[in-house]
Amino acid sequence: MLTVRAPATSANLGSGFDVFGLALGTPADVVRVERAPETTITVTGAGSEYIPEDPAKNTVGAVAEALDAPARIRIDKGVRPSSGLGSSAASAAAAAVALNVLYDRGRTREDLVSVAAKGEAVVSGEAHADNVAPSLLGGFTVVTEDGVTQVDASVPVVACLPEISVSTRDARGVVPDSATMDEVVTTVGNAATLTVGMTRDDPDLVGRGMNDDIVTPERTKLISGYEAVREAALEAGATGVTVSGAGPGILAVCHRRDRRAIASAMVDAFDAAGVESRAYQTAIS
Ligand code: HSE
Repeated sequence: MLTVRAPATSANLGSGFDVFGLALGTPADVVRVERAPETTITVTGAGSEYIPEDPAKNTVGAVAEALDAPARIRIDKGVRPSSGLGSSAASAAAAAVALNVLYDRGRTREDLVSVAAKGEAVVSGEAHADNVAPSLLGGFTVVTEDGVTQVDASVPVVACLPEISVSTRDARGVVPDSATMDEVVTTVGNAATLTVGMTRDDPDLVGRGMNDDIVTPERTKLISGYEAVREAALEAGATGVTVSGAGPGILAVCHRRDRRAIASAMVDAFDAAGVESRAYQTAIS
């Protein structure tokens, strides 16, 4: 039997909608695989009651099929589904790595990005790779139609996860169809600033580059307490705050010294809005 752990991730980072992603130190999914005549899946752990075990409906089933690697697969969820922390991507990434070894398929980690993205299509209807890429490669990733670029960034972050669910499908439904030239120019500038910040491990530049006026404002409406939590995190020292992936998780970038204060400020602000939450003090890993 083979066991693989794959980390939670945060996609978009505001200015990099469907392009940027980063791997978090915690939480993570653990996937165990052994060869079998046909694929079976069992799921335990965080939010497992919401995850189908039918291979045709599970993200990991699509990965097993893409690698022609039938297996008995056990998924232990550390990353709750519909959290904005790349839950389905963590399972897909771990399964892709494990099945590739189990059946000696010889794919590189980069090859496995498109394999694991097939699992994402099962969940959200689209094979976007901005969560599976960092889960497989670590660090900060930039996904475009031409491939994936990875940087071993290390910037402290706090990921705060409220006890509400936002499905990726719903969150994609509010993405605007168009943007003005001014909005595009501002977003490109922010995305470039953020990328330079990642290459320098500079939380100030990364935070400054997270602003996005195109997609994020529509998605924050789906998260009760978002504005209060954002304000609280900024007051506690966050250099940038945005929706994590499709939400409802909220991501704050910061200096290491401020991480603990930001985590409690975010949880307290959600609490004041009547929403229970949990904060992960972590870093890009
Ligand atoms: N980029 C995707 C989105 C990530 O924001 O819809 C989903 O986790």
